[in-house]
Amino acid sequence: MKYLAIALSFIPLAFASWPAPAGPWTASARHIPSDAGKIIEDSLQASGGHFWMGKSATPYCPSDVANLDCSLYNGTDTVLIGGNNTIFLDVTVPGGQQMYIASDGALSYSVPHSLPPAGAITTGFWREGSEGFMGAVFFGHEGSSAYACPVEDEEDVYQIFLGTEFTGCYGVLLFTYTFSGATVWEYS
Ligand SMILES: *[C@@H]1O[C@H](CO)[C@@H](O)[C@H](O)[C@H]1NC(C)=O
Ligand SMILES: *[C@@H]1O[C@H](CO)[C@@H](O)[C@H](O)[C@H]1NC(C)=O
Repeated sequence: MKYLAIALSFIPLAFASWPAPAGPWTASARHIPSDAGKIIEDSLQASGGHFWMGKSATPYCPSDVANLDCSLYNGTDTVLIGGNNTIFLDVTVPGGQQMYIASDGALSYSVPHSLPPAGAITTGFWREGSEGFMGAVFFGHEGSSAYACPVEDEEDVYQIFLGTEFTGCYGVLLFTYTFSGATVWEYS
């Protein structure tokens, strides 16, 4: 099997780029096969501290916090903000939840009320509009390629990793889309 992960990940940078629109956004990952390979494409969803294709997001609002009206936080999608060096989940919980790359390359997000773990890569993220791909807006991390890695025994579920090489995984482009809609308190 042939993977073009590294070449693909630099396509957005090879085109002239323009500043990404401000405000919250959602994302999807897409594997663009070089031949008649399998097309893998799905929205990017946050669950259990990691990012996935083929899973639902896990928005959460605690019912035991005084004066917290969880009916205001009924979002179901994974929504992100930023992209100029750092990226956060678009949550309301104090302190926020930050995107980072874990030491094993897993694209991750911090637990509420906690900092990312020691060794986590929290900076170097970018989000930019491209003149190619019909003006698509991509996100990524400087010096890393993005991969979707099949999850054992879960059909059409892939976990997202960032780094230079992951065996058995598919190189993906990370597309973003301007979002306006229901918000989330935090993601579990
Ligand atoms: C979600 O919350 C917003 C803000 O309170 C409200 O306008 C909207 O109707 C709610 N949507 C659902 C599906 O409950
Ligand atoms: C990104 O952040 C840098 C440093 O804070 C700032 O100078 C620059 O204007 C920002 N770029 C955008 C597009 O917001």
